[in-house]
Amino acid sequence: MRSKLPHVGTTIFTVMTRMAQQYHAINLSQGFPDFDCPAELRERVSFYLNSRRNQYAPMTGVPELRQQIALKLTLLYGCNLDADQEITVTSGATEALFDAIQATVDRDDEVIMFDPSYDSYDPAVRLAGGIPVHLQLQQPDYHIDWQQVADRINDRTRLIIINSPHNPSGSVLSKSDLDTLASLIRDRDIYVLSDEVYEHMVFDGGQHESVLRHAQLREKSFAVFSFGKTYHATGWKMAFCAAPAAMTAEFRKVHQFVTFTSTSFLQYAIADFLRDCPQHHLELPSFYQQKRDYFCELIRDSRFDFTPSAGTYFQCVDYGQISDLDDVSFVNWMTQQKGVAAIPLSAFYESPPDSRVIRFCFCKDNSTLEQAAEILRLL
Ligand SMILES: Cc1ncc(COP(=O)(O)O)c(C=O)c1O
Repeated sequence: MRSKLPHVGTTIFTVMTRMAQQYHAINLSQGFPDFDCPAELRERVSFYLNSRRNQYAPMTGVPELRQQIALKLTLLYGCNLDADQEITVTSGATEALFDAIQATVDRDDEVIMFDPSYDSYDPAVRLAGGIPVHLQLQQPDYHIDWQQVADRINDRTRLIIINSPHNPSGSVLSKSDLDTLASLIRDRDIYVLSDEVYEHMVFDGGQHESVLRHAQLREKSFAVFSFGKTYHATGWKMAFCAAPAAMTAEFRKVHQFVTFTSTSFLQYAIADFLRDCPQHHLELPSFYQQKRDYFCELIRDSRFDFTPSAGTYFQCVDYGQISDLDDVSFVNWMTQQKGVAAIPLSAFYESPPDSRVIRFCFCKDNSTLEQAAEILRLL
């Protein structure tokens, strides 16, 4: 059969998790917690599962949930969103990203993204007939070179995808980054897709700069968030997209034919949890900062070189003092021979730089981190 995505294989996350299972390695590769979601939320889920909330939810998401989301976003980002016209519940952020790209990108439209980039962006653009334009984040702190963006924008540029806090590097965008982006797209037919799934994981007193807080960007952005990340429940694939009404209308035209709607009882449960436990997400930055600090302290005396992440639950490390292997060979060796799995950074690049960097995920129980670090310290 002719392939529409000839260069795409199985995602590196699946490959590494499978390898970790096969070799009984500690899995610090794929980004999922090995601790559970809040007990109150689980109670609400079983309540609604047993209360006959098992049929199709409304296409846009259950109203109670969209209202709670609007309330939360207003409190967090100072934007007054219309729950009916500007918020759509989706089956994971992956679906929201896909829907936004299909809704915006036409044949031969160009889409700027920044490598290392999350691996769903490029194929989604190609499936829309668009042309992915990969720019590289700048070392050592993975910042955007805005002059490079300005030089690359042209009449065919339709969308710019940003991701902050950033997977895999852990960098975060500043207010001045967003100001610059806004000035570059002003008076142009260019939209922004802002992947903010790690919004609650910004450390050291920093603040997450959502496009929703930015008056100009908000008017031209799809902002994507994930309950899977926020509630330690990645397997639920529950997320949402906030965008101005006209953009949301186009987004929903795609959404209704991709999944139509998302799991009903989970939506009711999350709506209750947002209403009854509004403090939950406020505790996440310090919860994850403690994990970051703990993991970094555990591997401080290792031969890995790193700067602690500013956000997300990932830590990138340079292994150049340990091995000359390329990053794929290195993680294969580490998983199969040493028993710890990680993600090679080259998987996030169209043209990988000549560097020796891998990504660890630290959203794990402390005992898991300790076991892994015991091995990593000896490499
Ligand atoms: C940057 C980024 N965007 C989107 C997603 C997808 O989120 P979801 O599991 O809600 O589809 C992930 C998941 O790892 C991610 O890291």
